Amino acid sequence: MKKMMKKISVLLLLLPSFAMASGGGVHLDEAPIDLSDKESLKNGAKLFMNYCLSCHSAKFMRYKRMADDLGMSDQEVLDNLVFTGAKIHDTMDIAMPAEQAAKWFGTVPPDLSVISRARGDDWLYTYLRGFYVDPSRPMGVNNIVFQDVGMPHVLAGLQGNQQLKSDSVDMANGGAKTMESLVVDGSGSMSPAEYDKAVGDLVNFLAYVGEPVKAYRMTLGWYVLGFLLILLIPAYRLKKEYWKDVH
Ligand code: HEC
Repeated sequence: MKKMMKKISVLLLLLPSFAMASGGGVHLDEAPIDLSDKESLKNGAKLFMNYCLSCHSAKFMRYKRMADDLGMSDQEVLDNLVFTGAKIHDTMDIAMPAEQAAKWFGTVPPDLSVISRARGDDWLYTYLRGFYVDPSRPMGVNNIVFQDVGMPHVLAGLQGNQQLKSDSVDMANGGAKTMESLVVDGSGSMSPAEYDKAVGDLVNFLAYVGEPVKAYRMTLGWYVLGFLLILLIPAYRLKKEYWKDVH
């Protein structure tokens, strides 16, 4: 029994490393996550509504909640961020029927409500910057972290198209490709730095959608710690008072 418990606890300890290994050995760039940066979240929301919500839903998220969290009025959200005819209390749903989507893309675009927790922010940040031209694929593109992906490069108008440098594929790493394996052709409307910033904001928004209360939870944590620190003073004095006669 004891041995068994030991084995289980070792497995539990290893769990985080299994999760990390799911990146498939490809180096992931670090996403610039800052959930307190409202401007970044607003820009991310705008990109999400414009470029993603036509295919992907975020069904666990309501427009109203986003308006409140990002400090926007209901009308501001309805005017600038709702393109689907949804009402402010609706969830971020899409009109595209799943069967149609499966026919067009070979697979249904998944709901993105908790994608940041399923894949991780760094994976998303690398994925959205890692599309490259691959004429052998139905959508004409492939991806460095998602081999044979069924999603088109919907942000190509911003980023431009990337080519894979054939001599750069890291053979020592099992043929894994990295961001350094790609060159962009300059046909996008953004410079590489601007594009990285835009995708950073988008991933920041997806991280927020994955856990809307996180920023509040983290602030609350500091208050709780502060309270405990203050409580320490009377608790310590009380302890001294109790033990005074014993010593
Ligand atoms: C034209 C439809 C379409 C649009 C627009 C689109 N996607 Fe996708 N997306 C897909 C499809 C289809 C897949 C499934 C790919 C597969 O499984 O091969 C996918 C997959 C993904 C995945 C991987 C999900 C997984 O399996 O873990 C992520 C992340 C993602 N999309 C994010 C986005 C973001 C962010 C945007 C907006 C910038 C976006 N997508 C816009 C069609 C779309």
